[in-house]
Amino acid sequence: MKKAKHHLAQPPSPQQQRKRIVIFRLGIATLLFLFTLLLFAATTLTSPILSSYILPTSITASITRSLFVESKLHPLPIPPTSDSVPPRLAYLISGSKGDAQALTRTLLALYHPRNRYVVHLDREASEEERRELRRNLSAHALFMRFGNVRVISKANLITYRGPTMVSNTLHAAAIALREWSDWDWFINLSASDYPLVTQDDMLHVFSTLSRNVNFVDHTSDLGWKDQYRARPLMIDPGLYMSNKKQDLFFITQKRSGPTQFKLFTGSAWMVLSRSFIDYMIWGWDTLPRTLLMYYTNFVSSPEGYFHTLICNAKEFRNSTVNSDLHFIAWDNPPKQHPLYLMLNDFEKIVSSNAPFARKFPRNGTALLDKIDSELLSKGGAGRAVPGGWCLGSRENGTDPCSVIGKTTTLRPGPGSKRLETLISSLLSEENYRPKQCV
Ligand SMILES: *[C@@H]1O[C@H](CO)[C@@H](O)[C@H](O)[C@H]1NC(C)=O
Ligand SMILES: *[C@@H]1O[C@H](CO)[C@@H](O)[C@H](O)[C@H]1NC(C)=O
Ligand SMILES: *[C@@H]1O[C@H](CO)[C@@H](O)[C@H](O)[C@H]1NC(C)=O
Ligand SMILES: *[C@@H]1O[C@H](CO)[C@@H](O)[C@H](O)[C@H]1NC(C)=O
Ligand SMILES: *[C@@H]1O[C@H](CO)[C@@H](O)[C@H](O)[C@H]1NC(C)=O
Repeated sequence: MKKAKHHLAQPPSPQQQRKRIVIFRLGIATLLFLFTLLLFAATTLTSPILSSYILPTSITASITRSLFVESKLHPLPIPPTSDSVPPRLAYLISGSKGDAQALTRTLLALYHPRNRYVVHLDREASEEERRELRRNLSAHALFMRFGNVRVISKANLITYRGPTMVSNTLHAAAIALREWSDWDWFINLSASDYPLVTQDDMLHVFSTLSRNVNFVDHTSDLGWKDQYRARPLMIDPGLYMSNKKQDLFFITQKRSGPTQFKLFTGSAWMVLSRSFIDYMIWGWDTLPRTLLMYYTNFVSSPEGYFHTLICNAKEFRNSTVNSDLHFIAWDNPPKQHPLYLMLNDFEKIVSSNAPFARKFPRNGTALLDKIDSELLSKGGAGRAVPGGWCLGSRENGTDPCSVIGKTTTLRPGPGSKRLETLISSLLSEENYRPKQCV
């Protein structure tokens, strides 16, 4: 006590003063460093996998650039490619235990050298399965040559119907942003999804669209979901338990509906524009984070988070097209899971004009083979769907993609006509504005 008083009474010596200044500066530097770390952690979703990568300088630059940008001062980030070249799509393809083969098949059916692919096997899959998948994919001549496929090496634990599904999607989008800065749309698929058009068809039709368009199936009519999804409070054990997949915990109390924003719900499958992904991942606005916290305790948050966000963000609600671009067969009335597609669904699938379908059972290879031969002109296992970039001959069963030409050359086929029909109907006067965020 006495000593302290004595110490306080003494004026500091010049050395002490200098020391204090140094300590003060160190403190400021540490604080700044911690602050930067925090900001960085916040933008990268505190995910464990990021530690396994080395950060390129471009990312740090883009963090500082977008953190201090005010939405009112600057327009949204300009999409990276100019309108004269075909756009680029970034796909997330995710799967679980036993999905590696189906996932590889879906990846090859979706492959185009211009696109970007993030592949994720969740933590229920064994380390061996993940390693084997990574080995197989990294040995593939096309993937090696174009370097546009990444396998997430540290798998996330995903709880079915839980917010860990949303964080996994955001995580994959963040990886796609960091690995490549040049894509225009982000498309979330699973190993039990399959394309019904070639990527040449997709890129051809998407090159005619505004790069800001988002395809999100949505409604504010929650119906039974209000009582069973919005009111109950639950906790996703995947958020804090690292090892085993478990079901959600429910809390006995219920909550009332929010008043700050309006809830929307819809399909968990969507095509999101680069500007909307930038807004979610790098965004200066608090809405993406506020809603993320709200949806932490929400059952089946992948069917609500993106929909509520896009319809409550005034910069984006006008860019929303009410469709998930999927053919999905449901029971009547719909149950939790969609019906498996079978060979005799083929005509229905094609006449939907949708670019993607689900859900294909693992034993459903007959239908996939038919789609490969009749809709995609895809060769055997291990081959990509040929497009304008494949210049080789098809003689004697040779893979035409063994000779590679210009990757901006598209050769759209009948699939592009089907997709055009669907998109122009979605953008028609009676469908587009009237079905937007209502
Ligand atoms: C890896 O490739 C081999 C040979 O093509 C195949 O038999 C195996 O099923 C593949 N494994 C995975 C996990 O995709
Ligand atoms: C993304 O894909 C997975 C399938 O692996 C799905 O379960 C999830 O709900 C999807 N959507 C979103 C928005 O996360
Ligand atoms: C969105 O569309 C509505 C109605 O068409 C219009 O009033 C509003 O100004 C638009 N908002 C933006 C940000 O473009
Ligand atoms: C494939 O699996 C599904 C579900 O697991 C089952 O309903 C169906 O009968 C199976 N089909 C064949 C051809 O084995
Ligand atoms: C296809 O096979 C025939 C007969 O074996 C051969 O003469 C021809 O050169 C082959 N074509 C190519 C492109 O390999």
